[in-house]
Amino acid sequence: MLRHALLLLALASCVLGARLPMRRLVHSGKWLGAAGGRIVGGQDAVPGQFPYQVSLQYVTWEFTLIECTGSLITPMRVLTAGHCCGATNTAVAGVVDLDGCEEAKQESKVLDQIYHPDFPVGYYGIYANDIAVFTLETAFTLNEYVQTIPLATAGSIPTVNSSAVGSAWGSSPDNLQWVELSIIDYETCRQLVDDLGVIGENFVVDTMVCTVPITDGVGLCSGDSGGPLVQDGALIGIAQWSNVESGKGGVPSGFNRVSAFIDFINAHI
Ligand SMILES: *[C@@H]1O[C@H](CO)[C@@H](O)[C@H](O)[C@H]1NC(C)=O
Repeated sequence: MLRHALLLLALASCVLGARLPMRRLVHSGKWLGAAGGRIVGGQDAVPGQFPYQVSLQYVTWEFTLIECTGSLITPMRVLTAGHCCGATNTAVAGVVDLDGCEEAKQESKVLDQIYHPDFPVGYYGIYANDIAVFTLETAFTLNEYVQTIPLATAGSIPTVNSSAVGSAWGSSPDNLQWVELSIIDYETCRQLVDDLGVIGENFVVDTMVCTVPITDGVGLCSGDSGGPLVQDGALIGIAQWSNVESGKGGVPSGFNRVSAFIDFINAHI
C-alpha cells in the first residue's frame, strides 16, 4: 500500500524531471528505480574505499527513506547540500551496501541541520550557496571504514581538465557507486547549460564546480544530492545539479565548490 503510493510519487517526479532540462539532484527518489535513481554508469565501491561517505536518511519505525549523501568532515559533522535540509534524522557511515549488515556500519541521529544563510531552503530550483552542515548526536568512531575528509584549501579553483571522483548511493540502497569526472571552466559550463535550453537565468556561478563525464554513459543522477567530489584527497565539491540526460558526453553536472565556503563551514564545526 505504502509502496504503491511512493511509486506514484516517484513517477510524478520523473515527469517533472523530464520537463525541466536541468534539475537539482533532488532527494527522496528511492523509488525511481536503478536507472533513474543514482549515478549512471558508475562502478561499485569496495568497503573502505570512501570512508568519508555518509548516507543521510529519514528513519521511522515503519520505513526508511534514503534522502541524501554527505561527507564526514569531523567525527560529529557531515557536509551536504543545503537542499538536503529537511526530514533527515539519521546518518549512516562505514558501509557500501545500505541494505547489508556490514560489521563496520555505524549510525547516529542527526541533531541539527545548518544551511547557508544565503540559500533559499524550501524553494524548488537551482541556487547558489546550496550547502549545509549537519551535526550528529554521537560522534562516529574513526577507523578503516569511517574517516573524515580534509576540505579543499580556501579559495582554490580546481584545474580545468583535471579529474575528480564523485560517489553516491543515489536513491538506491544497494552498492555505493563512483565515477570519474573532468572539471570544466565556468564559461564552457554556462554555455553547455544554455545549450540545453534552461528556462530562466543561467544558474552557473563561480562558487560551483562544473564537471563532464570523462567517458560517455557516466554521470550524476537524481538522489545523488550532497555527494562528495574529491580530488587529491580533498573534498572539492558537493553534488548539486545535473541533467535529465546525465551521463551523456558533454552534459555537465554541478557541485558546490567547497573552497568557496570554508568560512561558513568553519563557523559551524
Ligand atoms: C581541456 O581539454 C580540451 C579538450 O581536450 C582542450 O581543447 C582544452 O584546450 C583543454 N583546456 C585546458 C585549459 O587545458
